[in-house]
Amino acid sequence: ESYDMGGHDTYMHKEIHEQVDAVDRVLRGRIDDRFATVRLGGLNLDAREARGVRRVKILGCGSAYHTGLIGAQLIEELARIPADAEPASEFRYRNAVVDPDTLYIAVSQSGETYDTLAAVQELKRKGARVLGVVNVVGSAIARETDGGVYVHAGPEVCVVSTKCFTNTAVAFALLALHLGRIRDLSVADGKRIIAGLRRLPEQIAEVLRGEEEIKKLAAEYANAKSMMFIGRVRGYPVAREASLKLKEVSYVHAEAYPASELKHGPLALIEPEVPTVAVLPDDDLLEKNRATLEEIKARSGRILAVAHQEQEKADHTIVVPRNEPELDPILMGVPLQLLAYHTALALGRDIDKPRNLAKSVTVE
Ligand code: AGP
Repeated sequence: ESYDMGGHDTYMHKEIHEQVDAVDRVLRGRIDDRFATVRLGGLNLDAREARGVRRVKILGCGSAYHTGLIGAQLIEELARIPADAEPASEFRYRNAVVDPDTLYIAVSQSGETYDTLAAVQELKRKGARVLGVVNVVGSAIARETDGGVYVHAGPEVCVVSTKCFTNTAVAFALLALHLGRIRDLSVADGKRIIAGLRRLPEQIAEVLRGEEEIKKLAAEYANAKSMMFIGRVRGYPVAREASLKLKEVSYVHAEAYPASELKHGPLALIEPEVPTVAVLPDDDLLEKNRATLEEIKARSGRILAVAHQEQEKADHTIVVPRNEPELDPILMGVPLQLLAYHTALALGRDIDKPRNLAKSVTVE
């Protein structure tokens, strides 16, 4: 992609629409159908080393951290390695125990975020193996890490990350599949995930074709006092990211919680002026999520669901196409990027340059 606006009014809108091609690009040349796996040329981690990994720790900031939450779930699910994500900004200050059997992964669009870079340098100094999941080729984090996966989203200009978020999540799916196939993921499951990855570009296009409908919903919810975003397990990182997206571009206050945590406090906030966006993949937690919607309805809360089928308890549902359950978070984030975009547009915000923010935070 180029810096040409190509008929779009803002970079954010352009970059949301570039996701179809961007996802195609992160997959291109990497799928190995014969062995139901992927080839990641720059990983610099052979099969023996990959089998020796006992834990994975993913570090990043903001949206990059949120992709790390998705990545950790994918690695646990597909490779059965315990994995978690932590804001790099916290990790670098807490004198963390650095374990030689842990694989550390730094994730960053720009590859220049100071907190993430400082975490990498501290880890390297202590002898850890650190990989990078980075968009900008040759950036500082790409140079300092031992190897990694390039995200190939193309240049992202808008301060608010969209296509890079999605592509990074896909890059984590590739990494998880690769690690999984070196360990215990079956050929059948490898093929299933590959088929799901190949469906993503067309499914993203399908979500984007629903933009007019999402624009109407954004107009309806734009005057909310605050918005609550909820999801369980696979839906939770999507809720986190959607809440950040809305806050940074529209300045509407938003909170994100695991749906299961609502009754431990945040339910007190629910009222008609505080609508809830519920991320509801059609997985084995759907019934639990529906019970949460009932609790919200009982407090007169309005609900906008993102789901695979119309949700009776919700006031509105954005229906997204089904993929493989492990890949649900990738697709479910896309309509919520459009929701944030159209909310900001309805409120007259400076979409590509939200107040107080910079594209990459290269200072402490
Ligand atoms: C994303 O919309 C934000 N602008 C921000 O959270 C960003 O993801 C974060 O600063 C990390 O940037 P990086 O990916 O370039 O490291």
